[in-house]
Amino acid sequence: MSTTVITGIGELVTNDPAREGLLGLVADAAVVVEGTRIAWVGPTADAPAADVRVDAGGRAIIPGFVDSHSHLVFAGDRSAEFEARMTGEPYTAGGIRTTVAATRAASDEQLLSHVGRLVAEMRSQGTTTVEIKSGYGLSVLDEARSLAVAAQFTDETTFLGAHVVPAGTTPEDYVDLVTGPMLAAAAPHARWIDVFCEDGAFDVDQARAILTAGSDSGLRGRLHANQLTYGGGVRLACELGLVAVDHCTYLSDLDVESLSDSGTIATLLPGVEFSTRQPYPDARRLLDAGVRIALASDCNPGSCFTSSMALCLALAVREMRMTPAEALHAATAMGAAALARDDVGVVAPGKAADLVLLDAPSYLHLAYRPGVPLVAGVWQGGRPVLGTPTLG
Ligand code: NIG
Ligand code: FE
Repeated sequence: MSTTVITGIGELVTNDPAREGLLGLVADAAVVVEGTRIAWVGPTADAPAADVRVDAGGRAIIPGFVDSHSHLVFAGDRSAEFEARMTGEPYTAGGIRTTVAATRAASDEQLLSHVGRLVAEMRSQGTTTVEIKSGYGLSVLDEARSLAVAAQFTDETTFLGAHVVPAGTTPEDYVDLVTGPMLAAAAPHARWIDVFCEDGAFDVDQARAILTAGSDSGLRGRLHANQLTYGGGVRLACELGLVAVDHCTYLSDLDVESLSDSGTIATLLPGVEFSTRQPYPDARRLLDAGVRIALASDCNPGSCFTSSMALCLALAVREMRMTPAEALHAATAMGAAALARDDVGVVAPGKAADLVLLDAPSYLHLAYRPGVPLVAGVWQGGRPVLGTPTLG
């Protein structure tokens, strides 16, 4: 198997709990990649020989971002809705139906090429693992084909038939469809099941029924909760022992207590608050209560159309009072934990060789230089997918 040694890494973020500090930083580091995996991590001075040698020239390397929440399978454009929001209109769940109509009208080829473009856009910004949800089909056929498209790009596919109730049906009939024929058609293509638990979408009892049906079909649950209002979604996620509950913008003390008791990860999506002019979730309050936090993009055509994890990280630092180290950890190792993955998000022997070379001496530049394209190279599963093998 071919080996590559990357030397001259000014600052290596490993997230390895066996090393010191939250990020397990190593200065003047080297990494050896063998096939798809990391084989060795240590000081450049001790680096073993390999088939290919790459010099990072003192620049920083971080683990690839793990974006644990996105809705990439869609067609159409809602920039006019964004414009209206910026002049005072509130965000509501109802806009989803606009995208449903456009998605149903798109061909399989159009959806495939659109998702491919967005995944490439993410990769070029350092995202090496992405979760992709359905949720803009909302018919048996359109949800199944959305998931089949998503599965072409990731193993982390999520059935979100319960995004909103589509026009022309009652909530009761739609929940029966989602938990019956739609779940049966979706399950072969999905690893996860999700529900938008919110005013204007699904209530707590409906969410419980849908997540339970999903679990009976072998899908693991995750939940959109407390995005627009206080509600019982976060507590439901904790009660069911879900791996992650996403948004968590409006939280009562009881919600925070449930999160810290259950160990359910709160996935915060600051790009949404940026793009909807909502108040940001209080990350500091959660961290102080011992809640585990992941950061993700929520890339979707309605509430937040960014694919940039670096932007989310900078917002988390500036607007949510996370330290730069907490934010990077949340966008990598905790994103992996939110997907129940232990093979990504960490740079250590045996882990996937998902590495991002920054055109900067330190990971701090991700928040310090917001909006600047700092990604100079990306290895995904050991393969250079951006930059060249001789990046030095
Ligand atoms: O996570 N909250 C529900 N779903 C998406 C938005 C979907 C849309 O507006 O199209 C979200 O924010
Ligand atoms: Fe979402």
